[in-house]
Amino acid sequence: MNLKNRNFLKLLDFTPEEVMYFIDHAAELKAMKKAGQSTADHHAGKNIALIFEKTSTRTRCSFEIAANDLGMHSTFLDPSASQIGKKESIADTARVLGRMFDGIEYRGFDHSIVEEIAKYAGVPVWNGLTNQWHPTQVLADALTIREHFGHLKGIKLTYMGDARYNMADSLMALCAKLGMHFTACSNKNYFPDPAIVKACEEAAAETGATIRLEDDVDKATKGADVIYTDVWVSMGEPDEIWEQRIHDLLPYQVNSHVMENAGEQAVFMHCLPAFHDLNTKIGKQIYEKFGLTCMEVTDDVFESKQSIVFDEAENRMHTIKSVMDLTL
Ligand code: CP
Ligand code: NVA
Repeated sequence: MNLKNRNFLKLLDFTPEEVMYFIDHAAELKAMKKAGQSTADHHAGKNIALIFEKTSTRTRCSFEIAANDLGMHSTFLDPSASQIGKKESIADTARVLGRMFDGIEYRGFDHSIVEEIAKYAGVPVWNGLTNQWHPTQVLADALTIREHFGHLKGIKLTYMGDARYNMADSLMALCAKLGMHFTACSNKNYFPDPAIVKACEEAAAETGATIRLEDDVDKATKGADVIYTDVWVSMGEPDEIWEQRIHDLLPYQVNSHVMENAGEQAVFMHCLPAFHDLNTKIGKQIYEKFGLTCMEVTDDVFESKQSIVFDEAENRMHTIKSVMDLTL
């Protein structure tokens, strides 16, 4: 299988075999790193650009460490300190960076922006998160689920919370591609875009995957292998919507009732960062305003044995390394 020079913008652009190849290769690279085997000769001397229009801890560090492990140098571009979007269009920026770099990562707002970069850059472009898709995250999620359960096909994954955004969309696509059973569990107003559901259903028809939208928590979580959630207000959304989101999504919080209903086999996953205590600035503000000590997940679940969120975070690096190694 040859994925050289391919962009990595969303999972729906790949066949199930190609998605699995990224995951299998990530497992190999992870084993090599743990065994102390160098991969610095894989792309020695290459350069990559990392554009982040939104903040990041995991994704940025993963790209930088993975690039270094593959023998490459990375340049971080903060739009507030560059010409991007203000004095220079996306198309012009992409053409300039494509002349200097071997690959470009982009994190930002509408998915059409990363598509435009890919159209003009002439080198592989990797999506580090857009409003609609977060494909490197769900590759890490798949690797983590496989490490825990030993397989992916047939796994039942229930996503709780705002199911109209990048994480639910990407998990739905992942499940569709790999024959897993996806349930979006939310208030009906927060169900995914019907066009994305339709595209995922078409992919699901080829793999035996299923896609379900369910507003009843007990029905949606009963027997689930994976309970997954994400923040209720995503990056780039205004602070004013917290009140409405809390009102609408508090019934879909992941708490001990949800985990017990799912069963002992269930694991808890979250792309992170998570609001599970008062040790963050926003967490404190929400507590002062609304009296909540946690939001999308309770602290007891986040800290429980069923929580595999830090394995998941580590796997961001191994899977991003796989994406770069195979597409460059
Ligand atoms: N999960 C994730 O993308 O984390 P960062 O925002 O820290 O990159
Ligand atoms: N939905 C979140 C995911 C963060 C990794 C956001 O876009 O902010």
